[in-house]
Amino acid sequence: MASWIPPLLSTFYRIFAYIFLQLIPTRLAVPVLPFLYVSHLISLLFTSSTPNNVPVDGEHTTPDLQVKETERNGQPISDSTVPKRTSPTLAASLLFSLKTRDRLPNLLNVVINTALFVASLDLALNPVFYPENSVAFARVGAVYPDAAKITVRYPLSESNLTEWELRLLYRKAASSAPWKDGPLVFLREESDWVNTTKISNLWPETVYEYAFSDQDNAVVSPIQRFQTFPDPRFHEGSHFKFLVSSCITPNFPYGGPQNRLKIKGFDRLAEYLKPSKPALILNETVEAVDTTVNATEAEEIVIETPSETEESISGLYKFMLFLGDFIYADVPIYFGDAPDAYLRLYRRNYASQSFRKLYKSLPILFAYDDHEIINNYGGEGVDLAPYHNASLGFSLYNGNSNYDSINPGDHYYNFTYGDTAFFVLDTRRHRSSTDTEPDSRTMLGSTQLEALQNWLSKVNETVTFKFIVSSVPFTSLWQHDALKDSWGGYEVEKATILDAIQTVPNVFILSGDRHEFAAIEFAAPAVNLHVVREFSTSPLNMFYIPFVRTLKMESDVMLEQVRKETKLTDAGPVVEVYSDLVPTERVLKYIQVGNSKWSSIEVDTRNRSRPVLRLEVIIDGEEAYRLETIGTPIKAKQTKSLISVPSGIKHFLGKLGFQSKQWF
Ligand SMILES: *[C@@H]1O[C@H](CO)[C@@H](O)[C@H](O)[C@H]1NC(C)=O
Ligand SMILES: *[C@@H]1O[C@H](CO)[C@@H](O)[C@H](O)[C@H]1NC(C)=O
Ligand SMILES: *[C@@H]1O[C@H](CO)[C@@H](O)[C@H](O)[C@H]1NC(C)=O
Ligand SMILES: *[C@@H]1O[C@H](CO)[C@@H](O)[C@H](O)[C@H]1NC(C)=O
Ligand SMILES: *[C@@H]1O[C@H](CO)[C@@H](O)[C@H](O)[C@H]1NC(C)=O
Ligand SMILES: *[C@@H]1O[C@H](CO)[C@@H](O)[C@H](O)[C@H]1NC(C)=O
Ligand SMILES: *[C@@H]1O[C@H](CO)[C@@H](O)[C@H](O)[C@H]1NC(C)=O
Repeated sequence: MASWIPPLLSTFYRIFAYIFLQLIPTRLAVPVLPFLYVSHLISLLFTSSTPNNVPVDGEHTTPDLQVKETERNGQPISDSTVPKRTSPTLAASLLFSLKTRDRLPNLLNVVINTALFVASLDLALNPVFYPENSVAFARVGAVYPDAAKITVRYPLSESNLTEWELRLLYRKAASSAPWKDGPLVFLREESDWVNTTKISNLWPETVYEYAFSDQDNAVVSPIQRFQTFPDPRFHEGSHFKFLVSSCITPNFPYGGPQNRLKIKGFDRLAEYLKPSKPALILNETVEAVDTTVNATEAEEIVIETPSETEESISGLYKFMLFLGDFIYADVPIYFGDAPDAYLRLYRRNYASQSFRKLYKSLPILFAYDDHEIINNYGGEGVDLAPYHNASLGFSLYNGNSNYDSINPGDHYYNFTYGDTAFFVLDTRRHRSSTDTEPDSRTMLGSTQLEALQNWLSKVNETVTFKFIVSSVPFTSLWQHDALKDSWGGYEVEKATILDAIQTVPNVFILSGDRHEFAAIEFAAPAVNLHVVREFSTSPLNMFYIPFVRTLKMESDVMLEQVRKETKLTDAGPVVEVYSDLVPTERVLKYIQVGNSKWSSIEVDTRNRSRPVLRLEVIIDGEEAYRLETIGTPIKAKQTKSLISVPSGIKHFLGKLGFQSKQWF
């Protein structure tokens, strides 16, 4: 066999392994890497018959190496040439996998390739080796002015019971009140020891702490906190922030087996949230709480004036929207549609200390995308396989703690924070396949589309900012695969929705999926219609595509925009009418690079005549872009009975024992 074959195979193998471990964990690696690795070893066997003391021809022919020609044909090599040759040859032979007369470099090359192979196996098969059956956690999902949903996993490890019960305990933070009994939660082996429960009858904008106790009244979980949302009936302006991102894979880019649960994007996010975090000055520290509580002894909670230091755990940050590709069920390897193949990927993320830093203190709301099911999935409204088995894991771990869908059993939902409204879409379960005629394709299905339209009319003139949250981008500017998988493949339904949202002021679209950031503007087609902006942010911890531009900067479709200008002339003011051709969609900002991206969105409606939305994009831990949008003021149609109650009075009412629900 020609002597250049092994170095060539080895070099290809190494380049591919580098791409797989550091750039893109492509599914192509599953056939390619083992093939190249084994081919290289076999090629070594077939070229190893060359006598050891004769240099191989190929060794000297590479011009880059600048190795001096030495004597051949068995003539002894002079002493002086040996040290000159050996040193560059060792480096070069390791770099280019060149065969040398020494055994050591040859052996080292095999060791290097094997190490790369083991690393690739570790990245691809980690969830199989470590099913994380024992992970335990509790976290908050949907938060209301008077309630909160909490998801808990606490497996029984030592007995052979297949179900048991925990009790949720809660009380106002910073109060020395006894724990109040919350609901009982059944945990069953068949539902992977996970369940979601809801505490109700809470005070708005109040910090609570919660924990779980077992049948012996022993607190088995850490004590964590959350803050209820403000009561929208006060019609006060709001000022808060939330986070948006999507797409995570632990330990990518690969950082060795010791980092198997590391999700650097979440580590950075936790770091980012720190400075804005006001030191939560509470009278008590969490550690001071007894580990055993007699839950049955707990009495009515003592009503206290909330202190000014009772701020949220993460300052202005109230929640995170995670827009899908939370698990990559089919990247780089699809392990089949058995429920546990999906469940163990959820367990792996919840076992990550990086993720834990976030979910223990910040509510997270989820949408799913295709990689929670399978690449480019469309359920066609009939839940094509593997939807059923895949959605078990999503529901248990992420979905059940979202707000309830208007249509029970569905995964789309809407919610409000103060005077800001959100509609989170399900873009997978009801979408028709791209084999369907373009005109009759649907992304949302008729029920969801109707729910979206009803919601739009309802929030139209009652709330200031509206966010439509879509796992896949709404813009059609992303090319290649996105033209089929994003809204670009569903132009008819997209146009229907765009027509409707342009009649509504202050609508923003939030999306993810493309592993890039872009801010897009949809031009207003007429003077009385509104501009819509989309912010697409991903990945939080996954690959990005280097070098290739996947986004078009503006659409080919143009629309005519009429602009009026008043000019002062000698004959008095004259209104001149101009008409400009503008693209229907254009890019305001495009950022491709970065393995870890998120957007922080600040809503400030405290000045009703000047509502502001500020976007801040963080890429690999650094601020990369800012955009401020001044919204259209909404004249809230307040009925007379809805008076704005200053917070002092709220607290006063609280002191008198009024429950929040009884205020009006
Ligand atoms: C397991 O179940 C059996 C039969 O139900 C019972 O006798 C045994 O004590 C249980 N073992 C443990 C460790 O709970
Ligand atoms: C969750 O707990 C509730 C009440 O404790 C129970 O009715 C329900 O069946 C449980 N759900 C699951 C999936 O185990
Ligand atoms: C809990 O309180 C009840 C009633 O006061 C008492 O009977 C019981 O022994 C207490 N349990 C524990 C574990 O202290
Ligand atoms: C779903 O999971 C079950 C149980 O593991 C399995 O029997 C079935 O083949 C899976 N796939 C579908 C499409 O139901
Ligand atoms: C969702 O929107 C509907 C109107 O379409 C509204 O009645 C409902 O209260 C909203 N749900 C939440 C949780 O805000
Ligand atoms: C929103 O309100 C405006 C003004 O009343 C109206 O023209 C428009 O049709 C409404 N849009 C929707 C989707 O209800
Ligand atoms: C609110 O915004 C308006 C318009 O920009 C401005 O004139 C006014 O001074 C602002 N009010 C306050 C209290 O900042």
